[in-house]
Amino acid sequence: MEDQIRAQAAEWTGDVNEPPKTKNIIVLVSGGGTNLQALIDAQMRGDLGCGRITCVISSRPDAYALVRAKNAGIPTRVLRRKDFDSTEAYSAAMLEAFYEEYADLIVQAGFMTILDAKVCRAYPNKIINVHPALIPSFCGKGFYGLHVHEAALAKGVKITGATVHFVNEVCDGGPIISQKAVAVEPGDTPETLQRRVMEQAEWHLLPEAVRLFCEGRLTVKDNIVSVSE
Ligand code: GAR
Repeated sequence: MEDQIRAQAAEWTGDVNEPPKTKNIIVLVSGGGTNLQALIDAQMRGDLGCGRITCVISSRPDAYALVRAKNAGIPTRVLRRKDFDSTEAYSAAMLEAFYEEYADLIVQAGFMTILDAKVCRAYPNKIINVHPALIPSFCGKGFYGLHVHEAALAKGVKITGATVHFVNEVCDGGPIISQKAVAVEPGDTPETLQRRVMEQAEWHLLPEAVRLFCEGRLTVKDNIVSVSE
């Protein structure tokens, strides 16, 4: 027992009275922002650990997600892809914004624009994405938003769901943090299925993954994520 206490004391480098360092979360959005709202609500409940959403960056100036951010008093920025000549130039501007905002974690919450490998390399296992299917099904280039649910219905799958994963150079190919299955019901349209996947999976998985990250409980080894107690 004494050995255990001594070992813990040797590992401890902080002051007991010091609160854990706040982690700055930057949320990237492109549309309605219901996943952003789930994160804001979780933060209000105190469910993001030491994480704070300090900036929302939208790829579209008309995204309703920006209204949600403003209502919550969160600073916003807009970076439109069409204002830049290339994916590289757009990614460089994004990276600059991350540095200016002292980002500790970047969350892609319905962000529909592609960033280049430089961004992933600058923030390894520090960018989280939510995808509306059970990866490796219905993912990769062209699978985003409603298209994912259209493809799931066209295939006739009986179970779909959502995945939260770290972002790497491969589109939807980064280490998987969490997944939840959702039933496809007879008569589903892409819209009804999208809503069920959001309600039953995405809005729970994403804030939970962000909390685990902020608590320092996610480890990645050989592309596999483990969660410590
Ligand atoms: C969500 O279903 C999200 O999983 C998906 O877009 C929707 C955004 O909704 N993201 C992707 O398809 C990314 N590949 P929201 O703006 O209401 O959060």
